[in-house]
Amino acid sequence: MNSFGKGRLTMTAIHEIASDVFRLSIYVPDLDMQFNHFLVRDEEPLLFHTGLKVMFPALRDAVSKLIDPTRLRHVAWSHFESDECGALNEWLQLAPQAQPVCTLVGKLVNVDDYSIRPAIGMTADDVLYTGRYRYRFYRSPHIPHGWDAGVLFEETCRTLFCSDLFHHFGNVEAVTTTDLIEPTRQAMHQLQQGPLAGYMPYTHQTESVLRTLADLNPQTLAVMHGSSFSGPAGRLLTELAGVIKEYFGQAKPEACSQHD
Ligand SMILES: [Fe+2]
Ligand SMILES: [Fe+2]
Repeated sequence: MNSFGKGRLTMTAIHEIASDVFRLSIYVPDLDMQFNHFLVRDEEPLLFHTGLKVMFPALRDAVSKLIDPTRLRHVAWSHFESDECGALNEWLQLAPQAQPVCTLVGKLVNVDDYSIRPAIGMTADDVLYTGRYRYRFYRSPHIPHGWDAGVLFEETCRTLFCSDLFHHFGNVEAVTTTDLIEPTRQAMHQLQQGPLAGYMPYTHQTESVLRTLADLNPQTLAVMHGSSFSGPAGRLLTELAGVIKEYFGQAKPEACSQHD
């Protein structure tokens, strides 16, 4: 299996999925997977997901079609992983006023030792303004994975930047208004058969965190791998807890028993 993004890349596809929110999608055929990055065009532009280092030139060119990329002010992501924030320093070098934005845990345990500039470590009490839009970061420990994980919620138009939640395969349409549960279930089934199995733990917090996100009543889900969703998304978030439990909540028998 190729490393993330090391195979052939397609052209970056750009779609506005909500007001001033642009989805910059690169499809990797060898993985049958889209890598989606989201640019918010506002007075202080925000990028959610830096992309992998190998994708940086293509993403920079895509961002250039929408804004002057040197004007980026906020570079945010969910959890410390290469497709989430691998090219962080490339963006910070390009945009001298840009600041990393992540959860407080992410800042403390990962980012400030890696980033060329310190991060803003956000809690749910902190509000980030980009101009017309207002954001809060919600901690979601181990959802989709990683102690530092969080999701970013834009409160004006109710867009949830939900990282790997609802991930699914294929070079799919930019936005769907139909169900994301079944494609997600298929993707979990497929990934659980391969070397990435166990990538999303089910914990005693999983249901309550997803219920909290459902109560935000998002109207758009900005999905990292696969189609974004447009429409009332609370029900999907509630149902997702059951799907995660189905694939990650059951103890599996050990492949080999210990010798006496
Ligand atoms: Fe991830
Ligand atoms: Fe991802």
